[in-house]
Amino acid sequence: MSTDRVVRTFLDYFQQRGHRRITGSTLLPPPGDSVLFTTAGMHPLTPHLEGLPHPLGRRLVNVQRCLRTTDLDEVGDDTHLTVFEMLGTWSLGDYGSSRSLRWGHDLLVNGFGVDPGLLHATVFGGDERTEPDTESLRTWQELGVPVEPTVEENWWSNGPTGPCGPDSEIFVWTGDTPPRSTPTRDGRWVEVWNHVMMRHRRHEDGVLETLPQQSIDTGLGLERLVAVLQGKRSVFETDLFEPWMRTVPSLWHPDDESSLRLVCDHLRSAVVVIGDGVVPSSTGRGYVLRRLVRRVLTTLWRDDPSRTLGDLPEEPYAHTLDRFGQSGRPQGVREVLLDEERRFGRLVERGRRVLSRPRFAGPLGEDDFHYLHDTHGLPRDLVLALRADPR
Ligand code: SER
Repeated sequence: MSTDRVVRTFLDYFQQRGHRRITGSTLLPPPGDSVLFTTAGMHPLTPHLEGLPHPLGRRLVNVQRCLRTTDLDEVGDDTHLTVFEMLGTWSLGDYGSSRSLRWGHDLLVNGFGVDPGLLHATVFGGDERTEPDTESLRTWQELGVPVEPTVEENWWSNGPTGPCGPDSEIFVWTGDTPPRSTPTRDGRWVEVWNHVMMRHRRHEDGVLETLPQQSIDTGLGLERLVAVLQGKRSVFETDLFEPWMRTVPSLWHPDDESSLRLVCDHLRSAVVVIGDGVVPSSTGRGYVLRRLVRRVLTTLWRDDPSRTLGDLPEEPYAHTLDRFGQSGRPQGVREVLLDEERRFGRLVERGRRVLSRPRFAGPLGEDDFHYLHDTHGLPRDLVLALRADPR
């Protein structure tokens, strides 16, 4: 099943069940929001999960692109990406967890053709403050899906304050053997869909208030689902990454799979961020973009400093801009990246010169890192990379 068909099937399923589609395009959160990037489909809906009526009603569906810097260090494994798409559904004070989970199960099994014997669920088992989620537990038992209760893993919040609640996650078995063990004990169970029962709001003093309206917020990771449905070991082997995974290795031959994945993920993410109008800078969103590009260049230059992003053809850029419905031209994105590459190249040269001074021959202390940063604009991670590879 192609990615486009997966998305269409998902949207049709929920639209046929009374959900209205809301736009879920840009990575930039609404004005006044404190986060840099949209990290989950529910993010722009926060006020409505806290009770504000939504103009389109109580059942919503969308496809939202998200960026999570918290996952940066996990990129390189089979499932984590910096920018990803989330298929989301919401019941704003309408139906409850049982209906949400039953629809989720039905769509996976009957809509997408996932073998029901390969599913496992987890539910919130309760803690000293909150009851166990017995409704979800019972629903899974009735559906014949094995279910594991946990505590921390099944509590969802988008930050220290705001709407939060117990969740129930659906996992698909991706191992070569018949399913065994449980999601918390075997990484071959891959989480694809999270159903959050948004029942509470956490205040700054930590107090958990029960919301007057009980809502459901679900998020299904598109790339992971596509990998499962296309029978691929990792998200990088799906059609979403095809032009990246074809052109990058033929051009630069990264020396190991996780470097290749990092380069493809970060470049693709950078394209989407630039496509949403961000340019590299030393603060905020621009700094996240800068870090992505510099991590790519650090990885590429580790083996061969003559490598340049200018050698990458436009095809992967165009593929990604198209996938995310962005109007930017591949040539424009490439210019932004090349500009950043030149800037970083000059910084690396200066860094090598400064670090070759006798003062920096031995171990570096905090004062050295501050001096290198404040006086020469050399961030700590670059200093460490240059010292690991002095050339
Ligand atoms: N908010 C939940 C998540 O991000 C479900 O959408 O996983």
